[in-house]
Amino acid sequence: MFDGIGLLYTADPAREEIQDAALVVEDGVVRWIGRSADAPAADERVDAEGRAVIPGFVDSHSHLVFAGDRTAEFAARMAGERYSAGGIRTTVAATREATVPQLAATTALLVTEMTAQGTTTFEIKSGYGLTVESERRCLEIAGQFTTETTYLGAHVVPPEVSPDDYVRTVTGPMLDACAPHARWIDVFCERGAFDEEQSREILSAGIKAGLRARIHANQLGEGPGVRVACEMGAASADHCTHLTDADVAALADSGVVATLLPGAEFSTRSPYPDARRLLDAGVSVALATDCNPGSSFTTSMPFCVALAVREMRMTPLEAVRAATRGGARALLRDDVGTLREGAQADLVLLDAPSYVHLAYRPGVPLVAQVWRSGRRVV
Ligand code: NIG
Ligand code: FE
Repeated sequence: MFDGIGLLYTADPAREEIQDAALVVEDGVVRWIGRSADAPAADERVDAEGRAVIPGFVDSHSHLVFAGDRTAEFAARMAGERYSAGGIRTTVAATREATVPQLAATTALLVTEMTAQGTTTFEIKSGYGLTVESERRCLEIAGQFTTETTYLGAHVVPPEVSPDDYVRTVTGPMLDACAPHARWIDVFCERGAFDEEQSREILSAGIKAGLRARIHANQLGEGPGVRVACEMGAASADHCTHLTDADVAALADSGVVATLLPGAEFSTRSPYPDARRLLDAGVSVALATDCNPGSSFTTSMPFCVALAVREMRMTPLEAVRAATRGGARALLRDDVGTLREGAQADLVLLDAPSYVHLAYRPGVPLVAQVWRSGRRVV
């Protein structure tokens, strides 16, 4: 049992915040939540000493399987260069060269970083292999760390193939090789990557193969991505930086989650998405890191929460909700992201009296303990 919790943020709409709380865990699952004074007896006790507890973060968008380094590209950007999705090819070349143990070791390091910062559920995409075998092995590696694996063969067209041939590969032999290792299919629907028609074809093929759809949409400019996501019943449209009023209305009507990735705007020095506009329209919002070596090389959900509050007009409550329940919703999961009876006991003890400190004290390592399925992992 955890007790002495000064402020428990549950992310459960039925009772989102509880003061002076306790939480009982049994067999990895939350069995009881309430006021400390009413708590049942328990064998073991963790005293939170007045500090805050939140659900483990759910990072629903990351690209952790890669090799190589794009420090120079980042430095050039900070000196005035523009971000271009063409940089993806630099990582593709390095990833193809790397061995499986090398790729697995890098991924493990990043997973350790994520966990240390309070993330207990995370998605990992392929997308830096772009050959049948290289995408397959990236997904196999991703599957060593999470069940939320995403086939992103449609990240960009690799230089050695024509776009038409590549779409045929992505929807044919590459899909056959990758589908057994993936839960999701994703496509980067953007000028310079895949257009509306190609994106629909790729997502349809994935759905036919039993995968669920998600999409990189409207990151670099307005475009068809969000509309495609809503029309095709994707779980989530990710980035959502450049939206028309019709896009916002479509997201609200369809219930597709808008996953915002402020690490990307930070690291590409671009205008942030307007979360307030989405929230006010009734759109479900998630926050995720987009951890990748090009546009957002951070594993830190607390950093994304702080950015969302400062730069995207979210309140601290909305940002923490989006980083927990929002992420779970983007992954169609109801067993994580919320602390309620019957949910997985994934929780973070903060060295702070309130979750608000995640934004109020940016950059300060406030994650004191991390528990996954009732077991301490940090
Ligand atoms: O989510 N948008 C496409 N993919 C990544 C960028 C990858 C890269 O630059 O390597 C993203 O931002
Ligand atoms: Fe991404």
